[in-house]
Amino acid sequence: TTIPRGAELALLFGSANHDETVFDTPTTLDLTRKDNPHISFSAGTHYCIGAALARLELGASMRSLLTLAPTLTLASDPARKPGFVMRGLEELKVTVGGDGVRGC
Ligand code: HEM
Repeated sequence: TTIPRGAELALLFGSANHDETVFDTPTTLDLTRKDNPHISFSAGTHYCIGAALARLELGASMRSLLTLAPTLTLASDPARKPGFVMRGLEELKVTVGGDGVRGC
């Protein structure tokens, strides 16, 4: 795509992270993905200064969640927030299964 000089751009990192020319299974949440050139923390000069802390926190919280709720599954299609500036989910309904989650 040719971008005209002076054009205003809105970059969707989440969209880039689902690029099927970059990722084999772009719509699968694969926490074990090895070849993972995502740009969630941006790149270059303004690369997220908290990336290492965020990875540590996400690793710990995901490990806890999957230990406490190993059969966690989607209960319905995720509902997205409207708009694209702050992308995210409105709600994410899941089924915990078994006796539920304790200790959270
Ligand atoms: C999953 C968690 C996080 C995500 C997805 C994330 C994402 C990002 C992104 C995309 C940028 C670049 C923004 C831009 O280019 O304008 C950024 C910058 C930044 N992030 Fe994060 N971040 C996360 C967690 C954190 C944490 C935990 C901290 C601090 C403890 C932090 C501090 C910063 C700072 C200070 C910048 C600005 C860096 C600069 O402009 O040089 N972030 N982050």
